[in-house]
Amino acid sequence: MIIDVITPFPNLIEGAFQESIVKRAQDKGLVKVTLWDLRNFASDKHHTVDDYPYGGGAGMILKPEPIFLAVDEIQEKYPDTETDIILMTPQGKTYTQQLARSFSQREHLIFLCGHYRGIDQRVIDALVTEEVSIGDYILSGGELAAAVVIDSVIRLLPDVLNNSDSAEGDSFTCGMLDHPHYTRPETFQDISVPEVLISGHHEKIQKWRHEQALRRTKERRPDLLNHNEKTEDASGPCS
Ligand code: 6GU
Repeated sequence: MIIDVITPFPNLIEGAFQESIVKRAQDKGLVKVTLWDLRNFASDKHHTVDDYPYGGGAGMILKPEPIFLAVDEIQEKYPDTETDIILMTPQGKTYTQQLARSFSQREHLIFLCGHYRGIDQRVIDALVTEEVSIGDYILSGGELAAAVVIDSVIRLLPDVLNNSDSAEGDSFTCGMLDHPHYTRPETFQDISVPEVLISGHHEKIQKWRHEQALRRTKERRPDLLNHNEKTEDASGPCS
């Protein structure tokens, strides 16, 4: 899979792709992530990427020309590739695990990080496939949101996760929150691990975990249960 990110602030997210699972996926050649500094596509000596909004009002708008140039250069690099261009913006549809699964099946994604007040509408009309938000709050720019989306997509790619970080049983994979986890020592500050987990009785353990997951989900996220009754989403592999 190929992922490109266009942003006026590449430093904001560079670190997100240089550690842990995402780094390992790149080292294994399963995904190639490239950051493109929008300022390198500005034509003036000050590398201007934004300008005042027509009609007035507060905030600056990302200019169209540097974005078109950046997208052209990226697409020339991958001429025979199907590309989707995702704009990260609070105006987008809310990101979910379902969309993560859809993105993980694409060949090439370009993420545009909205900034300041926004981005010239002509970019959206001519280039953007989907507008995506990661939730109902405002970030200073789309970079951190793009990092969130890219991380969640890469971990779904085939052969990225090994056994010890398996996605099986992930929250949302099976439509519920995860059950509690324990590791050694068996007793810590006078609190012991639930008996059933050291019983060695596989079926009882599975039953306990399922009950715990269900109780948590009912308590914290009843919307997930209602939602899953209406979709096939609950059919993923669950522990
Ligand atoms: Cl994608 N961008 C910004 N600026 N704020 C957000 C967001 C995106 N998603 C949630 N808040």
